[in-house]
Amino acid sequence: MAKVSGILMTSHVPLIGKAIHEGLQNEPYWQPFFEGFKPVHEWLEKNPPDVIIACYNDHGLNFFLDKLPTFAIGTAPEYISDDEGWGIPSMPKFPGAEDLSWHIRDNLVRDEFDMVSCQEMLVDHSITLPMALMWPDQKWRAPLVPICINTVLTPLPSPSRCYRLGEAIGRAIASYPEDLNVLLIGSGGLSHQLEGERAGHINQPFDKQFMASMADDPKWATQFSDIDLIEQVGNEGVELINWLAARGAVPGQVRVLHSSYHIPISNTAAAVMLMEPV
Ligand code: DHB
Ligand code: FE
Repeated sequence: MAKVSGILMTSHVPLIGKAIHEGLQNEPYWQPFFEGFKPVHEWLEKNPPDVIIACYNDHGLNFFLDKLPTFAIGTAPEYISDDEGWGIPSMPKFPGAEDLSWHIRDNLVRDEFDMVSCQEMLVDHSITLPMALMWPDQKWRAPLVPICINTVLTPLPSPSRCYRLGEAIGRAIASYPEDLNVLLIGSGGLSHQLEGERAGHINQPFDKQFMASMADDPKWATQFSDIDLIEQVGNEGVELINWLAARGAVPGQVRVLHSSYHIPISNTAAAVMLMEPV
């Protein structure tokens, strides 16, 4: 039976890609963020995942306003990262965990989540950066199931619905017959807003409470509507619904192995959390 071995939550600011490319990890601006990945690297050495399920959001590379699903899942044999215009050099393609993707897709649809199934899908910095942060040599050690959540066009799926999507992902993992260690990723956040009158908005008290809730009270943020959440954490900070989906996939308690929070990386309150089911 497949089981969750860990959950990694991380911000995915595109500038991180440039910092990786230019080798700036130890510069004072970057060090507090990259430092957060040392415990992740140690954990990955001891707990190599067999497969990765990443809850993320696309920023207009694969889906744009013309066709924008609320939920989509990749069922492709491989995923390519394309030039998004952020100056991130392209990365080696990512192998897809096709069989597990189809299993999760079938189970989510039966569980009444209307997933768009993508046998071809470009993946943007919301996937490439967490992967490159985990494996800086960009030799991907595990295939991927990408699960894309709309954070762009309101109404967004509510935080509560994203959590329930996660619960359904958790049930699908538990019913997969092969013995696999699954690493879940929640990509994005925390608070940030890139445009408009509130550009630069950061809400540290909310971020801290949200991070604490991931450990002890994971449904805490499901009390908010999508718009309430945008109000709190900004238009783009709402990406934390990806964290909710990833956390929802672990029904029980978790142990926090690492947690760091640093303001700012670019315009974003950057966070990293690594957790294990207890
Ligand atoms: C930034 C943050 C994001 O999450 C993103 O997708 C793009 C840009 C930023 O802070 O620059
Ligand atoms: Fe983003």
